[in-house]
Amino acid sequence: MNHTVLEKNSMLLLICALLVVTVGGLVQIVPLFLVESTIEKVQGMRPYSPLEQAGRDIYVREGCYTCHSQMIRTLKDEVERYGHYSLAAESMYDHPFQWGSKRTGPDLARVGGKYSNQWHAEHMINPRAVVPESIMPGYPWLAKTKLDYKKIAANMRALRIVGVPYSDEMIANAVQDVEAQVDPDHDEVDAMLERYPKAKVGNFDNNAEELTELDALIAYLQMLGTLVDFATFDQSGPNLR
Ligand code: HEC
Repeated sequence: MNHTVLEKNSMLLLICALLVVTVGGLVQIVPLFLVESTIEKVQGMRPYSPLEQAGRDIYVREGCYTCHSQMIRTLKDEVERYGHYSLAAESMYDHPFQWGSKRTGPDLARVGGKYSNQWHAEHMINPRAVVPESIMPGYPWLAKTKLDYKKIAANMRALRIVGVPYSDEMIANAVQDVEAQVDPDHDEVDAMLERYPKAKVGNFDNNAEELTELDALIAYLQMLGTLVDFATFDQSGPNLR
């Protein structure tokens, strides 16, 4: 048998094994370089507003991902519990992504709009105030810590380098957009909404005096899963651009 030649000659076996692995690797990798994009764009997805992005940074800093995933799988029970399964495009501006596999708490991919701002504020300060059996830790300091957003423009510039399409205008108005999003009476609310359609505007943390880290975190949570309109989303194509 020809195979005995290979089995008795270790160098030849090594070379042939390498050859097989190389061909197998190329078959997997080459198509990725030939398609224009591995993520289909979906209507509604936009870069996060500066306030949402700041909230996302706090989410990552506090390690919320150690208990919460942000990816609804294509399984019946998940779709019934959390809503439409997650699309790749929905996390295209996430650096790093927050898919995760640990669910001590529920998946948060579509938590936006599920509760009021007030509910979130109370829940983040002390989860047991609204969910008596909760084992989630409280994060009361977020309500007392002023949001440091002076550096947000630099953050956005860094995100642009890795592919998030923040425009010069978005970066130039970052500080103003943060302030407009927490104040419905702010003069620039409309301009902010034009840059970031569907962004929720309001005093998120129940404290209009101060712009806190809790404002940013709740603005982020309220946006999660709300950008793509699934009432009109059609997998077969019309909504893809
Ligand atoms: C030790 C695990 C743990 C950590 C860390 C944790 N959570 Fe939770 N979270 C839970 C559990 C358990 C629940 C379900 C009970 C409840 O609602 O409090 C929950 C519920 C929630 C809910 C309500 C979800 C829903 O659909 O009802 C939100 C929102 C939430 N967490 C946000 C956060 C954020 C933001 C952070 C980080 C600042 C965080 N959690 C950190 C365990 C955790």
